[in-house]
Amino acid sequence: MLAANTVKGVSARRCTKSITRRRQTTTTAAKKGDVVSAAATADAPVVKGPIIIDGQVAHSTTELGLEVFRDLGDFASGELTGLLKPVESSWQPQDYLPDPESDSFLDEVRELRERSQCLPDDYLVTIVGDMITEEALPTYMAMLNTLDGVSDETGASGTPWATWTRAWTAEENRHGDLLNKYLWLTGRVDMRQVEVTIQNLIGSGMDPKTENNPYLGFVYTSFQERATRVSHGNTARHAKIHGDATLARICGIIAADEARHENAYSRIVEEILKRDPNGGVVAFADMMRKQIVMPAHLMNDMKHEELNGGSNLFADFSIVAEKTETYTAFDYADIMEHLVKRWEISSVTGLNADGLEAQEYVCKLPARIRKIAEKTAVRKAKAAKANPKDLKFSWIHERTVSV
Ligand SMILES: [Fe+2]
Ligand SMILES: [Fe+2]
Repeated sequence: MLAANTVKGVSARRCTKSITRRRQTTTTAAKKGDVVSAAATADAPVVKGPIIIDGQVAHSTTELGLEVFRDLGDFASGELTGLLKPVESSWQPQDYLPDPESDSFLDEVRELRERSQCLPDDYLVTIVGDMITEEALPTYMAMLNTLDGVSDETGASGTPWATWTRAWTAEENRHGDLLNKYLWLTGRVDMRQVEVTIQNLIGSGMDPKTENNPYLGFVYTSFQERATRVSHGNTARHAKIHGDATLARICGIIAADEARHENAYSRIVEEILKRDPNGGVVAFADMMRKQIVMPAHLMNDMKHEELNGGSNLFADFSIVAEKTETYTAFDYADIMEHLVKRWEISSVTGLNADGLEAQEYVCKLPARIRKIAEKTAVRKAKAAKANPKDLKFSWIHERTVSV
């Protein structure tokens, strides 16, 4: 996916109190390039961290956190793995594409190309951005394998966590493949520019600020999978409105996968909350304070700035996603609210002072974000009316989208 990663005004204090406290021993001398370990201090309440790498907190997982994940082994090999779909019953991209072995292949391609003529440029920008995000899958697998206690230590490890990560990646891999092939066949987008963007994005990685901490990592993935589900669900709906029913079906089946993955990651957080309510609520608040960065936030097509007076490609893609209502600041607030409800944060008990503070913070946050989003939407609508902006995207042969 995706877009619209921030709601201005809610930026936020960097960390929760407890994490701040743990970090106090580490941050004084930390600067880019330093690796400083708090574990070396006498009273550090953690086993192997946190440490600071390139100015960022890393390995903030506590001893209790590692114990929680050891305890979750049966859950991971049972229920979690059960949420994957066997390959035999999985859809494959070819199921939704013209069959190159068939005599009717060229006719099917012609029909596809005719059908896609109905897709407007702003739609093409959002679906290309979503496809590019899916295509940076190596980055997301790498991110999961940075998490303490759940990473794939060998590349073919038999632990349930490593098995999950590889199978999840394999399911996700179909998303980028299908969207990429479909868009290539339409002839509506500049595929070379799209490919340049994908190569740059994978080369740049992402910075989700999850600190190698599986608590933070799985809060992040729960949020992200739901955001992706929302975005693909909307591109499905819009494709249908524009008149491309096949593309609508494609976006719909991808959205259904995202929903299943969202459920899986949310279940992990539910299990964390059962075992370590304090740590779980504090981790949720920490990710919300830092804001969920979108996986493609480092995208670069090497042309956009030049075409648009220095404007950032991801920021402009986000504007188009907002304008087309594919993914908006209101969706961000809705996702947060959904997770607060799903994880029953308001009724978590047994919290210490940090946990209580985090609980209050996350429970109030969706309303606060929605309020800011409303004000921002009014301001943006006025600005767009008074001074409409034309954004040029290399992905659509440098045609403009008015926002
Ligand atoms: Fe996906
Ligand atoms: Fe996903």
